[in-house]
Amino acid sequence: MNDSTNLKPILITGANSGIGRKTLELLTDKGYFVYAGARKDKDIEELNKLPNTLAIKLDVTDDEQIKQAIKIIKEEGRGLYGLVNNAGIALVGSIISTSMEMMKDLFEVNVFGPHRMTLACFPLLRKSKGRIVNISSISGILTGRILGLYSMSKHALEAYSDTLIQNVEDFDMNVSLIEPGNFKSDIGSNLIEKMRNEEESYRINMTSAQKKQQFKEIEEGFSADHGFPEPFKVAEAIFDALFSEKPKPRYLVGGNEEEVKWVIKRMFVEMLQLNHNHEYSFDRDSLIDIMDESISETN
Ligand SMILES: NC(=O)c1ccc[n+]([C@@H]2O[C@H](COP(=O)([O-])OP(=O)(O)OC[C@H]3O[C@@H](n4cnc5c(N)ncnc54)[C@H](OP(=O)(O)O)[C@@H]3O)[C@@H](O)[C@H]2O)c1
Repeated sequence: MNDSTNLKPILITGANSGIGRKTLELLTDKGYFVYAGARKDKDIEELNKLPNTLAIKLDVTDDEQIKQAIKIIKEEGRGLYGLVNNAGIALVGSIISTSMEMMKDLFEVNVFGPHRMTLACFPLLRKSKGRIVNISSISGILTGRILGLYSMSKHALEAYSDTLIQNVEDFDMNVSLIEPGNFKSDIGSNLIEKMRNEEESYRINMTSAQKKQQFKEIEEGFSADHGFPEPFKVAEAIFDALFSEKPKPRYLVGGNEEEVKWVIKRMFVEMLQLNHNHEYSFDRDSLIDIMDESISETN
């Protein structure tokens, strides 16, 4: 155990690339010790060369690996202050072409993964009155014609966190959601790679020509470098959620102003759809009163 490191060790799942890697670098630069979850041996070897880092083989769908990871953390003797549920995958395409197998694969990582990790880390986090940070997305609020599957998983994570935050408050623990817009990472290229290797039978209700067309659309949308920013701002939001005296329940981290506007507008549209034309609809003035009440509750 290195005594020079800050005594608030953090476990990050999927720490070898994208948002997880940037967060690892930010935390270790500031002197925090990070348990870096990664799946591939070559990534583990590379991560172990970084300062203040212990890489652990960790697939969030694998109960045995999770058990071993907790055993290692306990043996290290530093305790655990934070869990960053970052590991995630994308799955896109039309919902009617999505087999149960595909849907289950997605939820195994993006939804059941954070739950497995939360359950496994809970005893250590309870002891340290620690924090859980769940990496959702603006897709936890928005959805789209081909984004629906990924959005479903992130919508589930939103509800999960909103409940978890209440379930752990008796233990002086905290839970935050991070909702990034589009940032540079490997998530798009990993998706394309996976789709290239998909079994012909994986997508259903489509002819071969339709599958090709859908793949072309997805490839164009997700493999190009759209000039998205590096996820520094996302790492900073995660840092705040882990260490701020007053962590926020939600951190919306837009890549640009337009993304933020999409999200806020979507929330208004949903609210107005709920309010539209029924027995208990509120008029505009009452809606503004409700908004003022909500503002005072949020601040
Ligand atoms: N980048 C964005 O614009 C953006 C926006 C909103 C939300 N997010 C969310 O941010 C999180 C990180 O994604 P990213 O964009 O940084 O993508 P990324 O570069 O592809 O990183 C994803 C990480 O998750 C790991 N992972 C995938 N499946 C796993 C499993 N079964 N068990 C453990 N680890 C697994 C990957 O490991 P391998 O390298 O071994 O595959 C990788 O380390 C995800 O939850 C994603 O949904 C990203």
